[in-house]
Amino acid sequence: MTPDLVLDLTDRRPTAGARPSRPSARGPLSRVLFAWWDGRSDGAEVEPAARTARHLAGIDPLVDDDLHLALWACYQLHYGGLAGVDDDLEWDPATLGFRARLEAAFEGALRAEHDAAALPADAVAALEELRTWAGPPLARTVEEEGTLDHLREFAVHRSAYQLKEADPHTFGLPRLRGPGRAAMVEIQADEYGDGVPGEAHCELFAAAMDELGLSSDEAAYVGQLPGVTLATDNLVSMFGLHRRLRGALVGHLALFEMCSVVPMGRYLAAARRIGGLPALERFYRVHVEVDEHHARLALDGMVRPMVAAAPELGPDVVLGAAALSRAEARLAAHLLRSWDAGTSSLRTPLARTA
Ligand SMILES: [Fe+2]
Ligand SMILES: [Fe+2]
Repeated sequence: MTPDLVLDLTDRRPTAGARPSRPSARGPLSRVLFAWWDGRSDGAEVEPAARTARHLAGIDPLVDDDLHLALWACYQLHYGGLAGVDDDLEWDPATLGFRARLEAAFEGALRAEHDAAALPADAVAALEELRTWAGPPLARTVEEEGTLDHLREFAVHRSAYQLKEADPHTFGLPRLRGPGRAAMVEIQADEYGDGVPGEAHCELFAAAMDELGLSSDEAAYVGQLPGVTLATDNLVSMFGLHRRLRGALVGHLALFEMCSVVPMGRYLAAARRIGGLPALERFYRVHVEVDEHHARLALDGMVRPMVAAAPELGPDVVLGAAALSRAEARLAAHLLRSWDAGTSSLRTPLARTA
């Protein structure tokens, strides 16, 4: 790197505007990153990427707490930013170099667990099969025996993604052309509430969090989220921010829409059973109503014509969908395991409701 490309470490003034607080470091990777951002690094000559190799050895990149917090913080610079973190760091070569090492570990692990041979080679057929994969029965358990505390805890897990719902997939639009793109635009427009203020799904979710007595501030709970949860959010950010992975982004979106109606219906039933949660009911009901259409649109209007016109995207469409399925299964298993043991699934529990 030429010296003139290195940011001036003495000039890292945060820009104005309400932005989420940066979470605390939780291990060597996030410590190295945040020290770099704060200008507390040992010196500009030791960039964070150079320090990551030994910290990456021996961790599970699919769920590691520290890796996924650091990666989440890097990605947050491309969304709403972080309080106290200079906006210019979004394109800081040292930060991007550090992020690339974490992404390489994460993507490598995702590809290593992906057995493409176990699925049909045709992307549409593979998606139809993935749709039938049965993960741990989180939605059914919440429907049948979930308490208000379970719904609140689940909302906190979902908040990392849901408070910016649709944004990661939108990164795909300028990266795609040709058949299938119009269907993706239609899905995204619906996710943003067709331009009606307050109707975007992320806004409906924020209202539901407020109703649950939770903070709807972006990133309010990131410090409490384990790696297994942050990985579900980082997965789609990684797909969205790399043109190379646009096929995986499309596969992720498609399966997301195709697998929404049944679990959303179960969560809706839980909210109705508990009662007094109209905003939460609304969030789930909107998905039950619109995702029947989105599921068809995603498969027949988006994926089918897209891979017909660009067959080279097919394998990554399947990868993105399968990775979503596996990441969601890991999160569901973690929640159920924690709740079965009578413990919180968060790093620090929420205060219990009365
Ligand atoms: Fe949605
Ligand atoms: Fe949808």
